[in-house]
Amino acid sequence: MILTSLEMIDFRNYEQEKIDFADQKNFLFGNNAQGKSNLLEAIYLSCLSKSFRTSHEKEAIAFSKQNFILKAEFKFDNGNKQKVTLLCSNNKGKEISVNRKRISRISEFIGNFPVVLSSPEEYNLTTGPPPERRKFIDILLSQVSKKYIHFLIEYFRILKQKNAILQKWKQTGKQNQIELEPWNERLVEIGSKIIDFRNKFSGQLSINIKDIYSKLVKNNEQLDFTYHPNVEFNSSEEIESCFENKLKQLFYKEVQRGTSLAGPHRDDFIFKINGHDLKKFGSRGQHKTVLISLAAAEYELIKKLTEETPILLIDDLYSELDVNRENNILDLLEGFGQVFITSTEIHNKDSKEEKSKHFFVKSGTVQPA
Ligand SMILES: Nc1ncnc2c1ncn2[C@@H]1O[C@H](COP(=O)(O)OP(=O)(O)OP(=O)(O)O)[C@@H](O)[C@H]1O
Ligand SMILES: [Mg+2]
Repeated sequence: MILTSLEMIDFRNYEQEKIDFADQKNFLFGNNAQGKSNLLEAIYLSCLSKSFRTSHEKEAIAFSKQNFILKAEFKFDNGNKQKVTLLCSNNKGKEISVNRKRISRISEFIGNFPVVLSSPEEYNLTTGPPPERRKFIDILLSQVSKKYIHFLIEYFRILKQKNAILQKWKQTGKQNQIELEPWNERLVEIGSKIIDFRNKFSGQLSINIKDIYSKLVKNNEQLDFTYHPNVEFNSSEEIESCFENKLKQLFYKEVQRGTSLAGPHRDDFIFKINGHDLKKFGSRGQHKTVLISLAAAEYELIKKLTEETPILLIDDLYSELDVNRENNILDLLEGFGQVFITSTEIHNKDSKEEKSKHFFVKSGTVQPA
C-alpha cells in the first residue's frame, strides 16, 4: 500500500497543507519543532485512527481551532484506491470515513491500512514498564487479525466486570464466590485466546527481529525477544487449564487486593542482547537499533500475514546512531515499500536515492527540497 497524498487542515502546526508523496522513500528534513513528527502522526492517524503520541486526539487540533481534518489517498498493492477522511472536532470527537462512507466501529477500520512506526516517542517500549510492550503487540496483532481486536475488546470488558465485583467485595467485606465464577470462566476462555495469539506471533516476530538486528549491527551482538506470559504454560492446549489453576491459586490474593492479578493484562516481553537485559544494560544506540529492528520485523510480519505492503514511518532516524548503523539501516530499507524518514540533517546517502522525494519541513509547511 502507498500513501499517494495527504491533506492536513488545522492539524497541530499545519494550517492547510497538501503533499504528494513518492512511492518509495520520502525524506523529510527540518529543524526542531517545525512539524516533522506532526506529519508522521497525521499519516499514522489516517491509517489507524489513533495517534502514537496521545490517546486524546483532540490535542492535535491546532491551537485555538475547533477541529482538524486529514484526507489521505491510498493505493493498494493491487492498484485499488481508497480515500480516508478523518475529522476530529472538539465537540463531536472523531469521525472516520472511507470513500465517503462513514465507519461506525473502529474495529472495522483497524488493519485495513497497515502502518508501522519507529519513533523516539517509543523509547518507553524498551525502557519503560510492561504496558508499553503490550500496547505494541496489541497494535501489531490488531492489524493482522480482526479476531484479535474482538478478543481484546471482550477481554477488557470482562476484566472490568470482574474488577468491579472484587472492588465491591473489598468495600463491603462480603463475598459470594458464585458471583465471580461466570466472569472467571469467560476470562479464561477469551484470555487464553489472547495468550495463544501473543505466543504464536511473538515467536515469529522474534525470529525476524534477531535476523534484522544482526544485519544492522554486523558484529557478534545477538538480540533475543521473548514473550513472558503472566500465565505460564508449555503448549497451546494447556493454556486454559494453567490459567484456571492460577486463578484458583490467586483467589484470596485477588479478593484481598480487590483487583485481577492473573491473565494476559499482566504479560510482558523481554529484550536481551547477548543474554543481558536491554532495559538494564543497553546503550542508547542499542535501544534505538532494537526499536528500528522491531519496526522492520513488525513490517515483515504484517506484510506476510496480510499480504499487503505496510507503510513504514521512521521518526528521527539518525539520532543516537553511528554512521555504520545508519548506512546499514538505509541498506535494509532498500527492500521495503513506501517509507517516510524524518531527520534534522540531510544524510549524504539520502540525496543519491532514486525514486525518492525530499522535503523541507518549516513552520508547518512542507516544500520539495
Ligand atoms: N495542537 C497544536 N496546535 C498547534 N501547534 C502545535 C500543536 N501541537 C504541537 N504543536 C507545535 O508543533 C511543533 C512541534 O512539531 P513536531 O513535533 O512535528 O516537531 P519536529 O519537526 O518533529 O521537531 P523535532 O526535530 O524537535 O522532533 C511545536 O512547535 C509545537 O508547539
Ligand atoms: Mg520530531
